[in-house]
Amino acid sequence: GWSMENVLDEEIKVIKSTVGTEDHVICALSGGVDSTVAATLVHKAIGDRLHCIFVDNGLLRYKERERVMETFERDLHLPVTCVDATDKFLSELKGVVDPEKKRKIIGKEFISIFDAFAHDLEEKLGRKPSYLVQGTLYPDVIESCPPPGSGRTHSHTIKSHHNVGGLPKDMKLKLIEPLKLLFKDEVRQLGRILDVPQGFLKRHPFPGPGLAVRVLGDVTTGNALDVLRQVDEIFIQSIKDAGLYDEIWQAFAVFLPVRSVGVQGDQRTHSHVVALRAVTSQDGMTADWYYFEHKFLDDVSRKICNSVRGVNRVVQDITSKPPSTIEWE
Ligand code: XMP
Repeated sequence: GWSMENVLDEEIKVIKSTVGTEDHVICALSGGVDSTVAATLVHKAIGDRLHCIFVDNGLLRYKERERVMETFERDLHLPVTCVDATDKFLSELKGVVDPEKKRKIIGKEFISIFDAFAHDLEEKLGRKPSYLVQGTLYPDVIESCPPPGSGRTHSHTIKSHHNVGGLPKDMKLKLIEPLKLLFKDEVRQLGRILDVPQGFLKRHPFPGPGLAVRVLGDVTTGNALDVLRQVDEIFIQSIKDAGLYDEIWQAFAVFLPVRSVGVQGDQRTHSHVVALRAVTSQDGMTADWYYFEHKFLDDVSRKICNSVRGVNRVVQDITSKPPSTIEWE
């Protein structure tokens, strides 16, 4: 009969026979559920002929790199090269305020790093890697070729082009997409069988361009990224402590490029405003803003202003999608 265990066995067989006993495979890990489960599955099939890369673009959340690398290495034993390209990304993003330009720059930088990784690997192995693993899901397959008249355009183009999926076309890599017939909940089930930690499988989605679309305007202004990381961490940790994390589709903080007047201690301050956003959703296409208890919001707001230097005002986003999008940029 049909079960996730059978899907797993079948996939491993298919991957083994596709890749054979000599060829090498590469995979870009984003830190998300899909690429992690896809890589774990391929690793199970072909072992260390899989070569993964994780790029720290300087736009990750608080301790994100350390956290995901620990899962990759300690829990999943994946062979991962971690590349810190923070300086390169941030220097390319300096002065850029247009959200689409930010996405283009990030996508282009990513491709060039991935390219270098593939070429280094080729030198090391004395042969070209032949396959590329992608964590494409069934809904992504539908979304990238929207049925005519379905009205699915803008945000899907964004997603498909700027996920870690958008990779060099001239590399002549054949694709392995072991999740392409599965829905998200099935991927989580598969991940559970593959011993991907439960907490990891339940992580909220995170956009490929990362905090670049959550610091409005120039991301390199002052210590905006660092402030945002601290605020976001307090918000997310509070949500987890309150047992609300799994009810929410996505929650995050946004750094606003405005200052407001405040009074902290006996000092007048002129500091930053941050926004909190949390939504419920089935698929990210539409979303409702999430109702927190007043007490919860009060605690979070106090905690943020008391512990994050440079923030004196916290607001909450109370808009659904539509008319807003989930992200602010
Ligand atoms: P929006 O903001 O369009 O977001 O309502 C819908 C979902 O997509 C995510 N998102 C992105 N994911 N690259 C990504 O990989 C992007 O450029 C991007 N923009 C938005 C967003 O976090 C939400 O889950």
